[in-house]
Amino acid sequence: MKIEMEKLISHLKSMGFVFQGSEIYGGLANSWDYGPLGAELKNNLKQLWWDFFIKKNPYNIGLDSSIIMNPKVWEASGHIGNFNDPLLDCKECNSRWRADKLIEEKFIDLNVGGWQDSELEEFINEKKITCPKCNKTNFTNIRKFALMFKTNQGVVEDASSTVYLRPETAQGIFVQYKNAQRTLRKQLPFGIGQIGKSFRNEITPGNFIFRTREFEQMELEFFFAPNDTKDWFEYWLDQVQDFLTNVIGIKKENYILREHDKEELAHYSSRTVDIEFKFPFGVGELWGIANRGDFDLSQHQKTSGQDLTYLDPITNEKYLANVIEPSVGVERLLLAIFCQSYKEEKLDNGERILMQLPFNLAPYKVAILPLQKQQIDKSLEVYELINKTLGYSSTFDEKGNIGKRYRRQDAIGTPFCITIDFETNSDNCVTIRNRDTMEQERISINKIDSYLKNQLS
Ligand code: GAP
Repeated sequence: MKIEMEKLISHLKSMGFVFQGSEIYGGLANSWDYGPLGAELKNNLKQLWWDFFIKKNPYNIGLDSSIIMNPKVWEASGHIGNFNDPLLDCKECNSRWRADKLIEEKFIDLNVGGWQDSELEEFINEKKITCPKCNKTNFTNIRKFALMFKTNQGVVEDASSTVYLRPETAQGIFVQYKNAQRTLRKQLPFGIGQIGKSFRNEITPGNFIFRTREFEQMELEFFFAPNDTKDWFEYWLDQVQDFLTNVIGIKKENYILREHDKEELAHYSSRTVDIEFKFPFGVGELWGIANRGDFDLSQHQKTSGQDLTYLDPITNEKYLANVIEPSVGVERLLLAIFCQSYKEEKLDNGERILMQLPFNLAPYKVAILPLQKQQIDKSLEVYELINKTLGYSSTFDEKGNIGKRYRRQDAIGTPFCITIDFETNSDNCVTIRNRDTMEQERISINKIDSYLKNQLS
């Protein structure tokens, strides 16, 4: 998978997948908007996650909680105390860097996740790591930089009105755990999942949509009894891989599993395995699976004074549930999908860019292309049939020569093109072209549904 990020980004911009945020004002650093096709693709991805992890999983239920929460939530969760990055400034050019990233970018095999600030400083000095902007070695000491965005609620701007934009959706689940369990009469084990925006004032955002300050997460918190003998960590690690490979078509050779060292674990986790994707700019975290134990429920129980224990209906014991959390960013997953799907192909008569998106993710499943103006009425009829009656999201394009129209559909990942010609009116047949093989077949209009189903199976 050797692709150049520049080319991919320029393709995604020109095809209407991703635009620079606030572009007409010169943009806003590291902010991206999703164009018409990106929005469709993102929605398809979120829908597939929700179907797999919530609707079709026998244990799980969904939630949609607020972005702005009572600030005590963040005290209890440890985010106010622990959620910060080691920051240093270059004294020569005043640029600001994350100490751990400065090291990891120079020593790519080194993971400094669990290092103390003093160890990071010592290593930077010893190895004479230079400032990426001005190439000098003259840094300040490390300071802690809080990652949560702070704002004020209401008209008074003082400490009493300070609120935060959530840095993870997970806490919304923990604080509504008891309500969800009680109202849905759930017994352990069960999970609560949600999809929503999270915000982190990252010091070093970048690599396109890989690390941004505003992003969406798809998180599941799975609750189970502490004495449950099933290995739920392995279960969710398998489920995540099942989703990746069998639902959205991420190839096994494109990702690896990495177990966190003890020193690297987040403050709430006793075990974390990351699924890392081989992005063109390096291997990077895609999906984290963490064992949060009863850390969060116990913290919220302590801070809120509310009883968050579960009464076991069989043993009559009361205890706090343990938690396994699979958590992934929508945009990061989208980037992995983009990187894997983007292909440049040489053809006998030129070349083409192909987005080899799986059928279930593609913004349009079918493009309806009349060969000439005279077939527009019949083509619109076929478009209505496929789009409305059969329910395959489709597009209609009558402009330009047919070769160019095929190229455009290849470039946005439409799996099938259907052309309507002079004979369609008399024989009720159309030509259907496969995006990947470019093979064409003539079939009857009333066989389109079974043809598409057959191709997919
Ligand atoms: N609730 C646990 C949690 O938030 P995390 O490892 O910090 O754990 C989970 O984040 C996932 O969210 C990551 O694996 C990544 O896919 C995504 N993510 C985190 N920070 C991100 C950022 N700044 N931009 C885009 N995605 C991000």
